[in-house]
Amino acid sequence: MDKEQLVKEGYDMISENFLSFRHQFDNSQELIIFAKFLPENGRVLDVGCGVGIPVAGFFVENGFELTGIDISEGMLKKARENIPEAQFFQYNMVDLDFPDNHFDGIVSIYSMFHVPKQKHVKIIKNFHRMLKKEGCMMLVFNPRENEGVDDFLGTDMYWSCHKPEISRELVLKAGFEIIYDEILDRGNELMYWVMAKK
Ligand SMILES: C[S@@+](CC[C@H](N)C(=O)[O-])C[C@H]1O[C@@H](n2cnc3c(N)ncnc32)[C@H](O)[C@@H]1O
Repeated sequence: MDKEQLVKEGYDMISENFLSFRHQFDNSQELIIFAKFLPENGRVLDVGCGVGIPVAGFFVENGFELTGIDISEGMLKKARENIPEAQFFQYNMVDLDFPDNHFDGIVSIYSMFHVPKQKHVKIIKNFHRMLKKEGCMMLVFNPRENEGVDDFLGTDMYWSCHKPEISRELVLKAGFEIIYDEILDRGNELMYWVMAKK
């Protein structure tokens, strides 16, 4: 099966139970820091938004205009129920075609590692295109280079990631300035976080 289709079907399957799993990862610190770089009431895109909690909800609660996209209709259904104030669309993050210079912020939290790593360069360049001048982006990668399918919450799930040095290079080559990049432990899980500015 096509990898992105496998991810979509996997998340459709687990959308009901995803939130109880998600609660163990507290990202409030990262979100608060990121929001400080955004203009008041700015426009934010949440890529691979999942069920809208906690990320989309955080931006709505703090007065931002939030658009969420996700490949899984099941996750989007939950997101629309959870955060009715935001707009949600079904898209593959590889093919986003929002206008140039449109968003003040773009976040992709725990999502890009489901997309074949060969496509990360295209995704990051596209984020750069869609961000306004001085717009900010926050991405989360697995710190271990990997590729493959394994069990996730009882379903087959596809994962793919470069090692941090390569992800960092892709961000810089796309034209971003890095604000911080760090391997952070959240919920006893290590992830490589990158915050960068256009
Ligand atoms: C681990 S969840 C994280 C959800 C949310 N960002 C959060 O922090 O709770 C990963 C999400 O990425 C979405 N996703 C995976 N591949 C995608 C793709 N190619 N395009 C858009 N969304 C994708 C999944 O459907 C899922 O909702």
